[in-house]
Amino acid sequence: MRREKNAVILAHNYQLPEVQDIADFVGDSLGLSMQAAKTNADIIVFCGVHFMAETAKILSPDKTVLLPDKHAGCPMADMIEAADLKQLKAEHPSAVTMCYVNTSAAVKAQCDYCCTSGNALKMVRSILSGHKEIIFVPDKYLAHYVAGRTGRQFITWEGYCPTHARILPEDIMRAKSLHPRAKVIVHPECRPELTDLADIAASTEGMCHYAKQAEANEFIIGTETGIIHRMKKENPDKYFYPAAATATCPNMKKITLEKILWSLTDMEEEIKVAEEIRKKAKIAIDRMLQTA
Ligand code: 13P
Ligand code: SF4
Repeated sequence: MRREKNAVILAHNYQLPEVQDIADFVGDSLGLSMQAAKTNADIIVFCGVHFMAETAKILSPDKTVLLPDKHAGCPMADMIEAADLKQLKAEHPSAVTMCYVNTSAAVKAQCDYCCTSGNALKMVRSILSGHKEIIFVPDKYLAHYVAGRTGRQFITWEGYCPTHARILPEDIMRAKSLHPRAKVIVHPECRPELTDLADIAASTEGMCHYAKQAEANEFIIGTETGIIHRMKKENPDKYFYPAAATATCPNMKKITLEKILWSLTDMEEEIKVAEEIRKKAKIAIDRMLQTA
């Protein structure tokens, strides 16, 4: 059916193993956005969460973008609405606005720049360096991580990822005592106490890259546990231990093989973005892709 309909299947690194295995591309938010922007397929089946499929639609408006489960949302993205950001901007009229890609199209349309965890440091150090005041929403932990490494201060929002917040410093300490030679890799959506304890903090793609090129052969993984499937597949001789087995994102796990098939059969759930919002949001997303 994928061939018949000229569809491409994109899957995030947190997807179920069997979904990753049938995907055309598996990657992080930045990599998948890049794939969505350049694909020749007529249909993009997005195995991830709503904001990711929406970003694909913003970049490829003439393509049909399908999310196999319409309820696969991102609680962090839902923690801020366009009206909240409007209010924050009104309180800081001279600030430039940067949003994490984990936001709705309506929020992105209110922003000057969009970033992912893969390029946030680079964007703040380069294009935003001349700006005095920066609003950085919605992830307070990602904002803290970027602020600490760039020496900047941000106007932030009380958003966070409930899955990453579940991983605690004591989980890392326990894993380290069990595997003393293991390198600790975490996602910057984790609590600051965790990024401080880690050998490296990186986007999911950056984490996979680190695991591949590192000389170490044991790793403690501080992110959603689905990524371990890809890490094991790419490094069959290395060992990966989840920092917390409870760090699973229920929304990412809503996509199943059956739902992908039904989605292609019934052409549902089709993602739509109002043209006025899409055009504005695309400006911020294009800037994100330019700093890939
Ligand atoms: P990445 O962009 O690093 O893949 O992260 C997306 C995400 O939702 C992490 O929770
Ligand atoms: Fe959103 Fe967290 Fe799930 Fe990523 S892991 S999609 S940030 S809830």
